[in-house]
Amino acid sequence: MNSNEKNFFLQEKYNITATFYDFLDYPWERIYKKWRPTLIGDLRGKILEAGVGTGRNLEFYHEDSEVTGIELSKKMLGKAEKRKTKARCNINLVHEDATEMKSIDSDQFDWIVSTFMCCVMPDDIQELAIEQFARVLKPGGRFRLLEIVYSKNEKIRKRQELFAPFVEKVYGARFDRNTLRYLEQSSNLQVTSTTFLKDDTYLLIEGTRV
Ligand SMILES: C[S@@+](CC[C@H](N)C(=O)[O-])C[C@H]1O[C@@H](n2cnc3c(N)ncnc32)[C@H](O)[C@@H]1O
Repeated sequence: MNSNEKNFFLQEKYNITATFYDFLDYPWERIYKKWRPTLIGDLRGKILEAGVGTGRNLEFYHEDSEVTGIELSKKMLGKAEKRKTKARCNINLVHEDATEMKSIDSDQFDWIVSTFMCCVMPDDIQELAIEQFARVLKPGGRFRLLEIVYSKNEKIRKRQELFAPFVEKVYGARFDRNTLRYLEQSSNLQVTSTTFLKDDTYLLIEGTRV
């Protein structure tokens, strides 16, 4: 499969999953909802959210921000449009592929934020998205990505391995993506910090466009 075909496959998966997404994600969202206000609330200026999904982050943007949310699946985007009514700032939701960002001008964002998007993207596609992040951020603009990775703790990893087939089938997500490595290899982006939000599985990666 080439990258277009892989993206089409993912888009179709999410067009189906969209109907059940919030229901299926409920056990995890109980954890994520404690993090989202902190992940989003201190961002200011022009912000791009990549892979907005059903719009779980939208209500947490500060009123002094201007947000463009992009999403591959039209069905997911439809759910996000409904959640947009809770937002305190101007939010423009766009059906757009993060690996191409054809409708997005260069050098314009103060921030890129994304929660659990790269872990659903096949590795070769991730590099394309990371190139786009670098293109659309202003020089000095910053990024914040939250991803899920395999634990080094045997007990936790065993539990993850149990869930892995379900997680891949339903969300296209895998715990063995190499997002951090690709970001570190980027010549236009610099990783400034990595933090785990829970165990050594929920990895917050922050950095800047150099
Ligand atoms: C696991 S969901 C996370 C949704 C949301 N960010 C959240 O935190 O609840 C991943 C989302 O990324 C979207 N996505 C995957 N690949 C994408 C791409 N190339 N461009 C834009 N969105 C993409 C999927 O359609 C899906 O809605």
